[in-house]
Amino acid sequence: MQFSTTQAPVIELSSSCILVSIDDKGKLSSAAESIDKVSEQYLTDIFDSGDFNGKTGETLLLIKVPGITAQRLILVGSGKTADGITAKNYIKIADAAATAIKKSGALQAALFLQDIPVTGKDNAWKAEQVAIACENSLYSFDQTKSKPEHEAEDYSDAIENILWACQAEDNETAQASLGKGQAIARGITVAKDLGNMPANICTPTYLAEQAQTLADESGLIETTIINEVELEAMGAGAFISVSKGSSESGKFIIMKYQGASDANEAPHMILGKGITFDTGGISLKPGAGMDEMKYDMCGAASVLGAMTALTELKPSINIIGMITTAENMPAGNASKPGDVVTTLSGKTVEILNTDAEGRLVLCDALTYAIDNLKPASIVDIATLTGACMMALGNVNSGLFTEDESLATQLQQAAIDSHDKVWRLPLEDDYQEQLDSNFADIANIGGRLAGSTTAACFLARFTEGQSWAHLDIAGTAWHSGGKNKGSTGRPVPLLVNYLLNK
Ligand code: BES
Ligand code: MN
Ligand code: ZN
Repeated sequence: MQFSTTQAPVIELSSSCILVSIDDKGKLSSAAESIDKVSEQYLTDIFDSGDFNGKTGETLLLIKVPGITAQRLILVGSGKTADGITAKNYIKIADAAATAIKKSGALQAALFLQDIPVTGKDNAWKAEQVAIACENSLYSFDQTKSKPEHEAEDYSDAIENILWACQAEDNETAQASLGKGQAIARGITVAKDLGNMPANICTPTYLAEQAQTLADESGLIETTIINEVELEAMGAGAFISVSKGSSESGKFIIMKYQGASDANEAPHMILGKGITFDTGGISLKPGAGMDEMKYDMCGAASVLGAMTALTELKPSINIIGMITTAENMPAGNASKPGDVVTTLSGKTVEILNTDAEGRLVLCDALTYAIDNLKPASIVDIATLTGACMMALGNVNSGLFTEDESLATQLQQAAIDSHDKVWRLPLEDDYQEQLDSNFADIANIGGRLAGSTTAACFLARFTEGQSWAHLDIAGTAWHSGGKNKGSTGRPVPLLVNYLLNK
């Protein structure tokens, strides 16, 4: 899909499809008003007839509207605009617009959606959201179907050109925003594909291959893989305690991007949990819905998605994307509840529940990163706890950090991207829940405050390091139903966070 900007008058545009907005009081946007004038109030009449109410995200396709050059006109409802609409509603409108273009079969469309007022957001943000919506409207996962789904549908799904109408003074920023949105959308697609891919295909080795391909294709990333044998020799006993029960070989994947002129400038790191399937291990999970545990690598997927977007956006800082990946299986040689293992840091851990494996693969990755890669900051991203999903649902990712500056940066990026986070406590008062009679620390902290005790476990391995943890168990995936699948979150959050640096 190609994105460009236009300042041409709406009436003269020969694009195969034009989109203009009308609010729920019948107020026409300026482009809609120009069309209304040359068409003897065609649009006003439609609103007055009650066939179109201007509700948020409502759309109506019109053919051969008198007085304009374009073949098709799509009216888009902008809702209650008097005091400005919310960011959430603008995204809803952008999604509805993209879907309507797709259904119309038009190969090009010109969108006059810049003058819908959005509280707290500028025109650049609107262009970015529209680019994301248009790219993502074409997403479908058919790599594991014998026939692609879209062949069965009766509309085209190949929008080729999107024109974003804006004022001349907005032209340059709009172009940059369209590019940013497009890069983020590509990152979302990468993350969705990986999350949706079944675990018999998406293995630790598959993730490593994707990282290698990204390095080869972009020419901007250097990928290093540390395999299970090397990790065992190194002393990463917590990681190995998870990975050893699987015949798939676990790995650390390290993707280095150098954007700063100084190669030695400390990198900012994002670290993803990549459990390609979580059975729970010997502490086996119940069978119902267990298929969804293929998404336990969505932290890793978001790192690969964000790195993909960043290779297009080329920020001038050093970034490392790291993935810690393994399969959590029950097996004759799997870890058993009560086992004590020695982590890479030297601390010992009593594995009271083999289903609390995410923190085990993450703690050794954190130690490795801090000792060997010396990052300026680390944000880990993990589908870590069901408790976080219970607390925050599908709306917010859980944010845990004691670093106020990092908290502010992530919260700002969440607002900018509308990929939301909610801060939850991470404080020493919870640490005693992790006391063990037989090791330095237990890997679970009981029924209470489950997502905080998981974060507290990680905090034991990040002392003195600028670090934050994002629990995405509730936000990375839509459960059940027709929408079942990966959401691509938190790619928008991560890209905005790193770009803001
Ligand atoms: N991968 C799960 C967390 C999870 C649950 C993610 C549901 C997405 C949806 C994690 O490895 C896990 O099993 N956590 C346990 C921890 C418990 C044993 C302390 C949990 O949340 O039940
Ligand atoms: Mn688990
Ligand atoms: Zn897990």
